Amino acid sequence: MRRPIIAGNWKMNNTIADTKALIADLIPLVADAEAEVVICTPYTDLATAVEMTKGTNIKVGAENVHWAEKGAFTGEISAKMLVELGVEYVIIGHSERRQYFGETDETVNKRVKAALASGLKPIICVGESLEEREAGKVEEVLVKQVEGAFADITADELDKIVIAYEPIWAIGTGKTATKEEANDTIAIIRNKMADLYCADCAENKVRIQYGGSMNPKNASDLMAMPQIDGGLIGGASLKAVDFSQVVKY
Ligand code: PGA
Repeated sequence: MRRPIIAGNWKMNNTIADTKALIADLIPLVADAEAEVVICTPYTDLATAVEMTKGTNIKVGAENVHWAEKGAFTGEISAKMLVELGVEYVIIGHSERRQYFGETDETVNKRVKAALASGLKPIICVGESLEEREAGKVEEVLVKQVEGAFADITADELDKIVIAYEPIWAIGTGKTATKEEANDTIAIIRNKMADLYCADCAENKVRIQYGGSMNPKNASDLMAMPQIDGGLIGGASLKAVDFSQVVKY
């Protein structure tokens, strides 16, 4: 069985003071959640988040990681640095990184390998633009992203990896994919994983989230779909009550 996983993606939000207040509110609200609960925070909030969530059911993730062990990469953060802090997950290849910061399938793959090598669990984001959807290219785009991200990744690493299907047109727009659209598109991704690895790997090892304007109102409908194993939550993860309602969909 694939355990549901709900992850918050704070993006570039929350100072340390905000983080303290938000996590203090969140801890009791999600304490009895059945889903795995993760919050992915800016680098500057990670130490606070790890400290505050010790002994709770909330896990902490970063929003990116560099592939090199160390060196002359001004402004970047290595996997070892994140592991030392007690971080468990890391978002890789978010569409905002791809759009604004030149992330490619190749750099996504390098980051995934570095994360796994250090024991971090990657949340790999894939998703099509509105233009690509309207041009009937959803499958083509997703297959390319999945093949790129998973190059040289072996089947025994799959249970440490989460995929987040995030249609770009649904991110931060208030426009959610319908539950059928999300389910069918995630099925395409799962089929590709069966192709690349094995049917059992795709069915039992790989968890695939939906992301894009998921909120307390639509979470239960989305989570009821057989292919959807969780959510990557942006806007609605910034308010403790909203996020807890998604977590307990
Ligand atoms: P959103 O963001 O929930 O605000 O649409 C999701 C994401 O970008 O991960």
